[in-house]
Amino acid sequence: MMSEMLKKAQEYEVQQEKKIAETERPVFHLTPRVGWMNDPNGFSRYGERYHMFYQYYPYGTNWGPMHWGHAVSRDLLHWEYLPAAMAPDQEYDHFGCFSGGAVEDENGNHMLMYTGVSRENGQEVQTQCIAIGDGVTYQKYEKNPVLTGKDLPEGASTVDFRDPRIWRETDGTYRCAVGNRSADGSGQILLFQSENGLDWKFEQILSQNQNRYGKMWECPDFFSLDGYDVLLVSPQDMEAVEKEFIPGNGTLCVLGHLDEEHRLAEEKIQTVDYGIDFYAPQTVEAPDGRRIMIGWMQNWDTCGVRNPESKWFGQMSCPREIRIENGKLYQQPVRELAQYYGEKVSYQNVVVEKETHLDGICGSVLDLQIELIPAEGGYEEFILRFAKNEKHYSEFHFEPEQSLATIDRTHSGVCRAVMHQRTCVAAKNEGKLKIRMILDRFSAEIFLNDGEQVMTMTLYTEGEAEEIQFSAKGKVCMNVVAHRLEK
Ligand code: FRU
Repeated sequence: MMSEMLKKAQEYEVQQEKKIAETERPVFHLTPRVGWMNDPNGFSRYGERYHMFYQYYPYGTNWGPMHWGHAVSRDLLHWEYLPAAMAPDQEYDHFGCFSGGAVEDENGNHMLMYTGVSRENGQEVQTQCIAIGDGVTYQKYEKNPVLTGKDLPEGASTVDFRDPRIWRETDGTYRCAVGNRSADGSGQILLFQSENGLDWKFEQILSQNQNRYGKMWECPDFFSLDGYDVLLVSPQDMEAVEKEFIPGNGTLCVLGHLDEEHRLAEEKIQTVDYGIDFYAPQTVEAPDGRRIMIGWMQNWDTCGVRNPESKWFGQMSCPREIRIENGKLYQQPVRELAQYYGEKVSYQNVVVEKETHLDGICGSVLDLQIELIPAEGGYEEFILRFAKNEKHYSEFHFEPEQSLATIDRTHSGVCRAVMHQRTCVAAKNEGKLKIRMILDRFSAEIFLNDGEQVMTMTLYTEGEAEEIQFSAKGKVCMNVVAHRLEK
């Protein structure tokens, strides 16, 4: 039986989405059907399609009691909305159906595992719950919750116990990794095991923050890739560490190997995305074996950067193929993007010094690839301005001396006093740099050196802002290829 609350949400979203014109949304990036979106949830393949659920509050563009929105896609770029999958309609989740994951169970059903949040005596309680469905309609399991405070190891928090990432082992058994805090308040990731996906028991502490990277670790994902066991987590309350980590909510990629006791022995730790807006990523394995990652293209502290009139808020990032090379995480936009290439314009060996515009290189839905090579005498700085009109612009610049790459939306028309600029250190290569920028109306995702680093930010510049301008201090030689992206 569907609850009144879910029925109401489903009717509301169908009615309201009609009020949002296609041109008011990005072309390829998933946005909520209406209202608010945060984390990707249950990113999985089921029934020949990719499923993406999301933290969803349809009735307003701010966070509210969490529902699960739902969309499906065959190519990760063209999404079709399905009815909202869950509403916070039970006693154990009345404060919200928080983040979680999905797998296909042994009966061929789509199994969702999520955090049910309730309140008891003024205190938040977080438990793990199951819902089972056919890819469209989901029923919450009658014996929910399946993991509660009494399943936790000693000292583990029952307040911060959320975001289960569920998967199946090759022997068919189930595991999940859940974000938690240990007695000292620092984040840890707990591993649970189950024979049937319904009866769970604690197995091991997979990884511990030990007060190094922020506090609580949210939204774990765990998988093996290119010879490593990879843990993705999103820490809260980080402090800046050089140019690697930003203050606030960040993203962490831990590379290591599981030991015999199922603890992750850490080897390398890095940021996932070096931009401003990227959080809580989830991954899925494509049928051809590629590992695809999508994050919430947003930052909790910068949610004030928005179009106040818009009936939606929150976007997913471009889906990214990820790989590990030389002990580092590499990301590239999914190759499916090439199916949407429209007009192509390219230039070879353009020497840039003063402000330069190139015929045909413009637009706000674009895949722009640039190769920089120092020209005679070298250059101190290369500046790329995009999403530009008479009044506003956003910027990427690169200073080869120290190999500093910066994104900057200060002049994009924003009027909120939050982070608008971020710098990372790109690999040094005698002033050479490869840049690939994906623009989609409300965001820029900049992939450096074949995806060794990515810098993502959202943009809400008003009106048409399609100009692209190059300039340099000194002289730099540039090869440029631009593909318009069209659906
Ligand atoms: C991360 C997060 C999750 C939680 C969800 C609630 O962005 O805080 O930990 O499940 O958002 O919407």
